Amino acid sequence: MPHTLRIEDFADTAFDPFATFESAVLSDCENDPYRRLGELRARGSVFALDYRQLLGSAADETLRELPKYLVLGSPQIQQVLEAPQIYSNRIFERNIGQCFGRSLSVMDAPQHTRYRRLLQKVFLPNVVASWADSLVDPVVNSLLEQFIARGQADLVREFTKHYPFQIIYRQLDLPQDDIATFHKLAVGLTCIVVDIAHGVEASQKLGAYYALLLQERRAGNAEDLVSLLGRAELEGERLPDDVLVSFLRQLINAAGDTTYRATSSLLVGLLTHPDQLEAVRKDRSLVPAAVEEALRWEPPVTVCPRLTTGATVLGGLEIPAGSEVDAMTGAYNRDPARFVNPDRFDITRKAQRHLAFAFGPHVCIGQHLARVEMNRALNAILDRLPNLRLDPDYPAPKVVGVNMRAPQALHVRFGS
Ligand code: HEM
Repeated sequence: MPHTLRIEDFADTAFDPFATFESAVLSDCENDPYRRLGELRARGSVFALDYRQLLGSAADETLRELPKYLVLGSPQIQQVLEAPQIYSNRIFERNIGQCFGRSLSVMDAPQHTRYRRLLQKVFLPNVVASWADSLVDPVVNSLLEQFIARGQADLVREFTKHYPFQIIYRQLDLPQDDIATFHKLAVGLTCIVVDIAHGVEASQKLGAYYALLLQERRAGNAEDLVSLLGRAELEGERLPDDVLVSFLRQLINAAGDTTYRATSSLLVGLLTHPDQLEAVRKDRSLVPAAVEEALRWEPPVTVCPRLTTGATVLGGLEIPAGSEVDAMTGAYNRDPARFVNPDRFDITRKAQRHLAFAFGPHVCIGQHLARVEMNRALNAILDRLPNLRLDPDYPAPKVVGVNMRAPQALHVRFGS
C-alpha cells in the first residue's frame, strides 16, 4: 500500500535533540553507586532520603515536592513492587506521562491489567523468537559490516547505540524517508527532563504520526507491529487509540535505550574479563548465562519509583500518603545476602532471579525480546570480530550513571 502520511520535524529544525540528550547523560557519570548503597543497606532497609542527593545525580523537577524514601532491603523492594494498591505507578504521570501519554507505566489495576493482557500478546516468547532471524540478525550484521574491515571500533557509538532502534524501525515497518525525522523526534521525547517544550512538541508530532499510521495499517492485513497492535483484540475488546499511540511512543525508549545500555554493559563485563570472554567464544551455550549475569551485574534501570496511595509502614518506617518510594532494584541485584560476591561479574554463578526487568504487575513486557536481541548481538560479535579485545590506546571502559547506567564508549580491536 502506498504511504500517504508524512512526519513533521521540530518547528525549529536547527534544534539538536541528540546533543541535548547527550549533555544530560554526561552530567550523570557516577561510577560506583553500589558501594555507597551497600554501606547504607548494612544500617537498615528503608531510609527517608532522596537517592539522587545521596548519589549526586540531578533532581527530577516533576517530583521535587514529594517526601522521598529509599528502599534498599531486598524483601522490602519485593514488597513495594508486589503491592501496587499501596505503591502506585501513577507517579509516572508527572514525568514520562507528559511525553508518552497514557502508557502502561502510568496505570494501576484494573485498567493496567486489562490493557496489558492485550499488549503483551505481541511480545510473547513465540512471537519474539520469530523476529530473531527476520529482524534482529540482518540489523546486527549490517551494522557490524560498516566497520569490520577497520580492525577497530567504538562498539557503543558504532553498534550498541543503534541496533535496538533499527530493530524497532523494522518492526514498525516505517517508510524509509521518515526514519531520520522519526529518530530525531524519538530522542526529543527523552529531552523532556531538561527541555519540556521540545519534549512536548516531539510527543505531539510523534502522536499525530502514529495515529495516522494506525489508521492506515488497520485497513490492511500486514504483520508489522503497528498492524498487529491496531488489530489486536481480547474478548472482542480493542485498545483505545490514545493508549496504543502512547504504547508506541514509549516503545522507542523502553526498548531502545534500555537494550543499547544492557548490551554495552554485557560487552564491558566480558571484555574486562578476557577469560570469561574466551569461554563464551568457545562454548556458545554460555551466551544466555552471560546475558543474564550482565543484566544482574549492571542493570540499565536501577530504580523503580512508586507513589504511596495512603499512609503505610515499610521496614519499620512510617511513610505518609503521597510519598515517592524508590525501590532500588539495582541494589537487590548486588545484595550479598542473595548473591555470592555480588560485585563480581561471573557468568558461571548459579542462575537466580534478578530484578533488571523489575517484578510484579509492571515487570518488563519486552524482556523476551531484549534477551533475543542481546543473545543474537553477542553471537554475531563473537562470530565476526575474531580476537576481540580492549583497545590499549584508550582508557578502560567504565559503566556510569545512577538511573540509567551504561559505558559512554567501548573502544576495541579485533582481527590480527
Ligand atoms: C535490557 C533491556 C530492558 C530492560 C533492562 C528493561 C527494564 C524494564 C523495567 C525495570 C521495567 C519496569 C519499570 C517499573 O515498573 O518502574 C520495564 C517495563 C517496561 N518495558 Fe522494559 N526493559 C528492557 C527492554 C524492553 C523492550 C525490548 C521492550 C519492548 C517491548 C520493553 C518495554 C517495556 C514496557 C512497555 C514496560 C512497561 C510495562 C508495564 O508498566 O506494565 N522493555 N522495563
